[in-house]
Formats: sequence, C-alpha cells, structure tokens
Amino acid sequence: MKEDQPPLHYLHNHRHQKRTTISAEIAAIYGSKLTKATALFLLLFLTYVLGYLFSSPSCHPFSQPITTTNRATSAPPNPLDEFKITTQCSPPLPSNLIRQTILDKVYNGTSPYANFPPAHVSNLLRPKRIKGWGSNGAVFENLISRIKPKTIIEVGTFLGASAIHMAQKAEAKGLKPQILCLDDFRGWPGFQHRFKDIKMVNGDVLLLYQFMQNVVYMNRTESIIAVPFSTGSGLEKLCEWGIVADLIEIDAGHDFNSAWADINRAYKILRPGGVLFGHDYFTAADNRGVRRAVNLFAKINGLKVKVDGQHWVIDSV
Ligand SMILES: C[S@@+](CC[C@H](N)C(=O)[O-])C[C@H]1O[C@@H](n2cnc3c(N)ncnc32)[C@H](O)[C@@H]1O
Repeated sequence: MKEDQPPLHYLHNHRHQKRTTISAEIAAIYGSKLTKATALFLLLFLTYVLGYLFSSPSCHPFSQPITTTNRATSAPPNPLDEFKITTQCSPPLPSNLIRQTILDKVYNGTSPYANFPPAHVSNLLRPKRIKGWGSNGAVFENLISRIKPKTIIEVGTFLGASAIHMAQKAEAKGLKPQILCLDDFRGWPGFQHRFKDIKMVNGDVLLLYQFMQNVVYMNRTESIIAVPFSTGSGLEKLCEWGIVADLIEIDAGHDFNSAWADINRAYKILRPGGVLFGHDYFTAADNRGVRRAVNLFAKINGLKVKVDGQHWVIDSV
C-alpha cells in the first residue's frame, strides 16, 4: 500500500459521513419537520428522476424532437432516381426538317460533303475502307421492315458499316430514312494498332473523314450524315433540338456506365412506337456491361428485352 493513500476503512467512513452530511443538510433546508429517513428518500427520488431525464433520448433537454409523421407519410427515396435523365426535350420536329436542322446546328447551314475531301487529307484516305462488327446482321432488315423508319440514329458508327447497310436495306424496300451517325470519331485508345492504314494528322485520327469518304463512295450522302460529338453531349443536343427517331441503334461504349447513359438518353428521343436496339448483348466486356445496362433499363421501365442475333431489341410503349 502506498503511504499517501488513505486506509480503506477511512474511505468508507468518509463517504458514509459525507452522505450523512448531505441528508442532514436537506433536513436542515426543509426544516425540522423532515426526518432523516424522509431526507434520504427525497435524495434517492431526486437521483432517480434526474437520471431518467438525462438518459432518455426523447426527453433529453437538448435532443431534437423526432417527427414520426414525416417518416410515416413520405415514401423512402429511390436511389435510382439520381440516375434519371431529367432534361426536357423540345417538341418533336417533323422528320422532313431533321436533316436541315442538323445542317444548321452542326454545319453552319452548309453540307459537310461539299468540296469533300479537303486537300490536306485527300491523299491520306482510302477510296473505301469499311469495317464493322455484326454490321450486316439480320436485325437491321427485320427492324426496317417492321418499323419503316423515317429517321434512324446510330450511336457509335466508326467507319459507317452498319449505317451504310441500313441505308441499303431501307432503299431496297422503297424507304429513304435520314440516318444520323453520332460518334466522336476518335475510336478508342490504341485502335490504330489494329487499323494501321488509317492515318493520323497532328493527332487527328481521320476517322470522320474516312467515314465520310465511305459514304461518298457508296453514294449515300443524301441519307447519311455525321453528328460528330460525344454520345452524351450529342444526345443531349438532339433532345434539345426536338430531334426524334423511329429506330435508334446503340453501339458506342461497351462498359456498363457508357451503355447505361446512352440507352437512357436515347430513349428520351425515341418516337412512341419506335425501337431501341444495340449490338454486343453477349459481349463479356466490363462483366457483361451492355447486358447489365440493357436489362436494368428494361426492368426499371417495365419493358421487354428481345434478342436478334447478337443484338438486343427493346420496343417502346
Ligand atoms: C463498335 S464501334 C461502332 C461500330 C459500328 N456500329 C458498326 O458496326 O459499323 C464504336 C464507336 O463508338 C464510338 N464511341 C465510343 N464511345 C463514344 C462516346 N462516348 N462518344 C462518341 N462516340 C463514342 C467510337 O468512336 C467508335 O467509332
């Protein structure tokens, strides 16, 4: 035992003395009518009441009152609402005004095919360099026969293989839809390693020019026109300009987030009764990112996913 510590019996007696003193003080405060036992009872009662008040959260003097009515009446927020595209599109333009609207908004009112190709790239382009993926699938003809589209938007075009195929199939059925090809025409990082013949000029990969050259070569300049922007900003602008389509093909980024954004934005500019479809439903990229995005979109919107070859197909309601 350390020398400066008081002995235990002293501590016990001291506490006992102190309690006795407080009781005595209370007795003194309330006068001679209070007995020592009453004072002790009062002390215990006060201790209980104070303890209850400060331990109960709802009665804590500094606690906020909980409004149970708010919790009961308002529906819990749906976290998926955060992902909704909230842009309001302009009223839909008639299909015969769509080409001129693109010329005005994107090309200052002139045709991008005028005086094509420009001198600085003319000897770098191949007369025809067409390559796509699943670009000739039966799905295109099936949908063109069923929907008879006046306007088609392709989201992800590359060298124009599927766009040219759609133009040919439509013409064979006596249709002449306007086909808008939305693509930033940058391909993807490192695509030149696979397409070594596509030249680069000061960092520009010439995809847009080679796509246009293909369209010129195939004599489809009246029906096919590029909208050379990222899919996000491009689809946003088409919505703002009131451009709607009967058929929209999604074939740009194949990761979940890209496909999810493109599908949601594209659906906003799909004409009622139109069809949204896209390539690579079975691709493994990003843990089957395209399929996850398509299925989630269909589920949330109560729509049905059909499969045609490698393509997914969703009919609007
Ligand atoms: C698979 S290719 C399209 C192939 C084309 N549908 C065919 O089969 O003929 C994908 C295209 O999407 C474009 N792309 C990818 N992500 C994009 C984005 N965020 N914005 C614009 N274009 C994009 C690329 O530049 C590329 O040309």
